[in-house]
Amino acid sequence: MKKYDIAAIGELNVDIILNGIESEPEIGKEKFCKDMVVTLGSSTAIFAANAAALGSKVCFVGMVGRDPFGELVCTSLQAKGVDTKYLIHGNTPTGATICMNYDEDRANLTYQGAMDVMGFDDIAPEVFAEAKHIHLSSLFMQSGLLRDIHKVLDAAAANGATVSLDTQWDPMETWKLDYKTVLPKVTVFLPNEKELQALTGTKDLKSAIGAVLPYLGDMMVVKCGSKGSLLVRKDGSRKLLDAFLNTEVVDAIGAGDSFNSGFVSAFVKGMSPEECQETGNLTGAVNTTAAGGTGAFTSLEAVRKVCKDRFGREIAL
Ligand SMILES: Nc1ncnc2c1ncn2[C@@H]1O[C@H](COP(=O)(O)OP(=O)(O)OP(=O)(O)O)[C@@H](O)[C@H]1O
Ligand SMILES: [Mg+2]
Repeated sequence: MKKYDIAAIGELNVDIILNGIESEPEIGKEKFCKDMVVTLGSSTAIFAANAAALGSKVCFVGMVGRDPFGELVCTSLQAKGVDTKYLIHGNTPTGATICMNYDEDRANLTYQGAMDVMGFDDIAPEVFAEAKHIHLSSLFMQSGLLRDIHKVLDAAAANGATVSLDTQWDPMETWKLDYKTVLPKVTVFLPNEKELQALTGTKDLKSAIGAVLPYLGDMMVVKCGSKGSLLVRKDGSRKLLDAFLNTEVVDAIGAGDSFNSGFVSAFVKGMSPEECQETGNLTGAVNTTAAGGTGAFTSLEAVRKVCKDRFGREIAL
């Protein structure tokens, strides 16, 4: 028996969310906004928090600075039931994103800080022995982790841990990840449609799937927003599962991370890929029923109730 179901390895930052901005910022001028929220950001943190809410035992591996933002990240993860024993406190400041909200649109500015520094040598080696499964996310926001990706994957393999990977979007759009050598070491690859096409340099989903298929470790799930998800197995079989459509979306922030949290939580329980996919589609849909990435994930009971009341389904967890 391993101590953790999942070790989430990824980026950590705070979000400084500014609302009610009177007009766009201009160089040389000072302007006001009406409201500010400072909160735990980062897509891997949404994943970890929601997987913990769904009942998985989760620890987080990420780097923060020795500063108040680092404290905020740490206490916020703990409040969500995520073990912070393996957080690394480095000498670079904690990352932060300033999110300027303009009605439906947002302008974000990110200082990566500590997240960009963490490499394989910073990670406590016990993590790989203590976790059944390693979830890696937001690779292109973490140049240290991207550089050391093979070391991380090899340590997981040496300890018999399965691996999931969601690269997320590459803000620099260089897509410097050698998927031909990386994907064979990944048990579950979790891109969205656009990311898969960008990574493979293809123009349509069919060609993108064809490009990665020979290299899949075991399976891939392509997230397709309100169209649902497509499960692709190493043997080439495919299963499209329509979304449990929410026609009254509050917002879709973190829907992909919530999908991952459901899929991986089902996976570590030994469920079939189809059951994992259905669970992922459900948790993705649940995400859209409340504000932000974690709003709907207060407890497994609450998630169970939303699945039943809003989507007429039992969640398998
Ligand atoms: N409107 C919706 N109604 C129901 N389910 C949805 C809706 N939008 C998304 N989902 C579910 O959430 C899953 C993940 O969403 P999406 O495809 O947007 O992921 P993503 O692009 O990785 O998102 P993120 O921006 O969070 O990284 C989808 O596969 C789908 O099952
Ligand atoms: Mg995503």
